[in-house]
Amino acid sequence: MISTALTEMLGIRYPVIQAGMGPWNTDKLCVAAANAGALGVISTVGIGYFWTRPEEGAPKTPYEFLRAIIAKVAGETAERRGVFGANIPLAMEFKEQIEGLIKAVSDARREDEDVAARLKVIITSAGNPTPWGEVIKESGVLWFHVAPSVYHALKAQSAGADVVIASGREGGGHVAFEPIHTMVLLPAVIKAVDIPVVGAGGFCDGASLVAALALGAIGVQMGTRFIATRESDFHQLWKNKVVESSEMDTLVGISIFGPARYLKNEVAIRLHELLRGGFEQGYNEGVMLETKGIALSIEGGDPEWSIYFGGEVAGRIDGIAGVGELLEGIEAEAERIIASLQGNLKR
Ligand SMILES: Cc1cc2nc3c(=O)[nH]c(=O)nc-3n(C[C@H](O)[C@H](O)[C@H](O)COP(=O)(O)O)c2cc1C
Repeated sequence: MISTALTEMLGIRYPVIQAGMGPWNTDKLCVAAANAGALGVISTVGIGYFWTRPEEGAPKTPYEFLRAIIAKVAGETAERRGVFGANIPLAMEFKEQIEGLIKAVSDARREDEDVAARLKVIITSAGNPTPWGEVIKESGVLWFHVAPSVYHALKAQSAGADVVIASGREGGGHVAFEPIHTMVLLPAVIKAVDIPVVGAGGFCDGASLVAALALGAIGVQMGTRFIATRESDFHQLWKNKVVESSEMDTLVGISIFGPARYLKNEVAIRLHELLRGGFEQGYNEGVMLETKGIALSIEGGDPEWSIYFGGEVAGRIDGIAGVGELLEGIEAEAERIIASLQGNLKR
């Protein structure tokens, strides 16, 4: 077993966080990851998206949506005592939604002891953490914040976050304008802050987990690797695309809140060109393409115009695995590597 401050803090087996991946749902993935012994994470950005097209009898507000998802995830992870969290990006345009989402976590925990014992974390990202410290802390959860630079990590620390997730530029989904990659970012953040740090961006196996631990991290957060799992909520076309992509098959292009890393297809090439022409100039066309492409990726529409966020690590993923076997494999490989490290040294 690989015990770290992360596994101890959360009471989980593996020092692995299944990343939030809105605006797509990760409910099934969250259940699978939590039941297998990692931290499962519910994505909440999609709640706003589906909220615009509610079905008959469906919840109508982000608060109601998240309450319903928490109840479902809690039910499906009860037997195996799965531990889970919610990812809440903090874009100020969605202030009201964010308040509703934090309240949903807080109320769910207050009203049910079992949920309080297993819904342990809010992972915030993509926004200023400072205004949210008090209300998140009041909810009683641990607070992790995603930071793409030392500057943002220090900000998360002063806002009162318990853990920083240092997220390098090779990762899938939204990335910072400044291209700082995990190999430099992670040790720099670890040196700069006094709170524990998790690495994100580029992790997929035991070797990369050991690398993160060697740099001083307490665990890793993985997004792209978890897309290509049997249980994940993502369309089969997307899972296949992860497996088929090489490490050269990603592009950074315009996305609604800033640049994002996409698996390469026609729409990614266009979004990349638009970004090169200037974020402001390309913004409207970019958001239009992204909105259409998100719908296509959910329905399984044209793979060239579907939005497929994905990291460079896609080049190191060559199969669709079950979540349980994936995590077992990561642990076994990490243990093997740790045991053999001395043998790599020439005497
Ligand atoms: C499809 C997809 C959607 C994502 N959406 C979110 C999101 O809603 N919130 C967030 O904090 N990060 C989001 N991310 C970033 C991930 O949480 C994670 O940090 C990233 O995937 C790590 O890099 P990796 O893809 O190399 O594992 C997304 C990533 C992907 C691939």
